[in-house]
This record gives sequence, C-alpha cells and structure tokens, in this order.
Amino acid sequence: MSKITVAIDGYSSCGKSTLAKALAQKLNYNYIDTGAMYRAVTIYCLRNNIIKDSVVDLPKLMDSLKDIDVSFVYNTTTKTSEVFLNGEHVEREIRSMEVANNVSAVSSIKAVREKMVLLQREMGKNKGVIMDGRDIGSHVFPYAELKIFMTADTAVRTQRRLDELTSKGERHSFEDVRRNLEKRDHDDTTRKENPLVQAEDAIILDNTDINREEQLNFVLKLINDLLLTKDEFNKPAARH
Ligand code: DC
Repeated sequence: MSKITVAIDGYSSCGKSTLAKALAQKLNYNYIDTGAMYRAVTIYCLRNNIIKDSVVDLPKLMDSLKDIDVSFVYNTTTKTSEVFLNGEHVEREIRSMEVANNVSAVSSIKAVREKMVLLQREMGKNKGVIMDGRDIGSHVFPYAELKIFMTADTAVRTQRRLDELTSKGERHSFEDVRRNLEKRDHDDTTRKENPLVQAEDAIILDNTDINREEQLNFVLKLINDLLLTKDEFNKPAARH
C-alpha cells in the first residue's frame, strides 16, 4: 500500500502530538514533533546565554546556529521518536515552563526556521510520515495528502497542559498556564515568518468535546479513504 504525508497543525496544547503519535503507531509511520525541534534549539539558547526573558541575542544566535544539531531517535520502549540536542536526550527538558516561555521568540527567527524546515523536509522526503507543528500543511509540506488543523477551547487546553506539567512535578497556577498558551497562540499566529495559519485544504478537528479514541478513528478513516482512492488510481488499467 502506498504511503502518504500527514500534516497536523494547530494551536498550542490541542493534543496534536498525542494524536500524531497514536496515528504513527497504528500506521507504522514516522512521527516528527517539529515543536520539539524549536524547543531543543531554545534549550541551547538558554544554556548558552543567547536568550534571556524572551530577548534573543541575534548575532550570537547566528554565530551558533552551525553548532546546533537537532535529531530524533526512535525509543523502542516508549514507541516514539524522541528529540536529541547535539547527541543529548532532551525530551523531558523541552517540556519545562522555562522553555515554553522562550520558544516563541526563538521560533520566530527566520534563520532558525529555515534550518529546521530543511531538516523537516529531509525527514519527510520518503513519505510515511506524520508531522505536527504550526506551518507543516501551509509551508513545510504544502502538497501533503492530508492536512489536519486542530483546535479546542482555551480552558480545556489549559487544563490539559496543567495536568501534563503537574505529572512532571512542575507546579503552576491555571492562570499562568493560560497566559502562556494565549501568548504563544498570539505570537505564533502574528509572527512574520511562516505564522500559524490554517491551510485552505486542511480539515478542522475541534477536540473540545471528543476523546482521543474518537479523534484517532476520525483521522484513521480519512487516511484509509485516501489510501484506497490513491491505490485504486495507481492500479494498472485492466487488459482486454
Ligand atoms: O508544539 P509545541 O507547543 O511543542 O511548539 C513549541 C513552539 O514552537 C510553539 O510555541 C511554536 C513553535 N513552533 C513553530 O513555530 N513551528 C512549528 N512547526 C512547530 C512549533
């Protein structure tokens, strides 16, 4: 059966990565979390005093870009690809509030985006990939066979994010988390370089009131229908 590219974009903490991971496991596709890539670059910037309170030292960052290597390695226990920064596993550290508070500033820089987009296109060039982010359907893979645009009520998203942080031992107020989400949504949708936009041909998935299984089944059906049409179309014509 042929393989396709699935682009999943949407607002922060909409459950994009949860859905993308589940799809990748079901279909045996690669999962690429592009937000994790920008977060890994942010860790590098924080550690090397390139960013402080969301203010980026641009000349220093431009100088350091060549030294920043972001990659993914498949973890057979968690059954998903995990992100590495210069060979160091940073999957846990990328989810901290400190990274969340600074990542929008880093991801708005053109040179950072260009470097990440090149890597993303390379990783997805053979199809069979589920990639989630903000600009996947609109910019990274504009010809992706399936584009999903995810959204959900802000309060629901805040609670999900708060639960995730709490489970990792970080304590924050509901209001702090909500502010961070709203700020990132605002920064992501208004930045100059490849902002978060819904691609014209994307299918909207609002998961405010639907559970994970329902979301998974909804998208799996879309993919199966697409694959059936694609394989039917590619069949050699019957000989008479
Ligand atoms: O999906 P996430 O919350 O882990 O993403 C972290 C940040 O990275 C988010 O605030 C916006 C940015 N991002 C981006 O600009 N483009 C992408 N393709 C993915 C994420």
